[in-house]
Amino acid sequence: MINLYQNLLRPLFFLLDPERVHHISLAALSKTPIARFISPWTSLLESDPIKLWGITFPNRIGLAAGFDKNAEALPAWPKLGFGHVELGTVTCQAQPGNPKPRIFRIASHQGLINRMGFPNNGANAIATKLQRYKQNKTWPSIPVGINIGKSKVTEIEEAAEDYLESFQKLRPYADYIAINVSSPNTPGLRSLQEKDQLLKILKILQKENKKDSLQDTKEVPILVKIAPDLEKQQIMEVLDCIQDADCDGIIATNTTIDHSKVRESINEKGGLSGSPARVKSTQVIRFISRETQGKLPIIGVGGIFNQSDAREKLDAGASLLQAYTGFIYEGPTFCRVICER
Ligand code: FNR
Repeated sequence: MINLYQNLLRPLFFLLDPERVHHISLAALSKTPIARFISPWTSLLESDPIKLWGITFPNRIGLAAGFDKNAEALPAWPKLGFGHVELGTVTCQAQPGNPKPRIFRIASHQGLINRMGFPNNGANAIATKLQRYKQNKTWPSIPVGINIGKSKVTEIEEAAEDYLESFQKLRPYADYIAINVSSPNTPGLRSLQEKDQLLKILKILQKENKKDSLQDTKEVPILVKIAPDLEKQQIMEVLDCIQDADCDGIIATNTTIDHSKVRESINEKGGLSGSPARVKSTQVIRFISRETQGKLPIIGVGGIFNQSDAREKLDAGASLLQAYTGFIYEGPTFCRVICER
């Protein structure tokens, strides 16, 4: 299977436009027979189950946000070995994202640059889709996180209300909600990591989350996804907000705007992911773990390709892991290789 993907499929895929390959792959995975066909080689390994926030994760490696933005292939992810999946980023309003091309491979560095800008079907349509999976009984066996972001048309000052609306629509389907304030591709979004703005958003969401009038809707863990480019002082402020708003964890990290490691190979705007982002993300995880004495659950993401990268993140203090770029480069056996003892 490794040889088939890495020797045959990947070279073919890499001849095509990255976003086109992405859509082909998602369309294929959304067809149950294909996912079922490959699952004997790839399927879920309960190698290292972990309980967090009262939820059992069958293994530590999840699919990072951005891959299955619209929940197109939701039932397929456990068949590919993922122990959880984070859908989205979903915005309250449907939006097309930035002009194409907007994903670029840097094969020499095992990296990607993207400036997608949150193309997605919007919170209403995605909630309807998720409802359908529940009705069809095709809901996956693994925890499902939903990552929400600000709609492009919404002014920064109105961000909290925009997040709240998405939260209200999607929370019934989520095992956790991730608040994305760290994508470099929506103008102004990363300023929402600043203390006053972030605290406002988190408090509004947490108030809604804890409202006991909604007895049929469970309270969900709320996590904040941060950028790897923050200074230590800025990370401390984010941690203060998480504590003040009684939130439950942090996802570290999103893509980086630091292109110094790949500048000689590519000159495109956007967020850099994959191997060139690994060390920076691990440093942020280690810093957070030290500052919180290991008490705040961390999902570690950024440049995980193999067991040694996964171990590095766990040793730095992450409890769970996620990957996007490593999955593209390594293929369908990615999780199995990570989880193998
Ligand atoms: C992303 N990522 C991302 N993150 C997020 O919170 N919301 C999103 O919509 C997206 N979209 C997205 C698209 C593409 C093409 C890529 C490559 C990445 C970031 C992703 O979830 C992850 O945080 C980083 O990519 C770092 O992990 P990897 O890719 O190095 O494993």
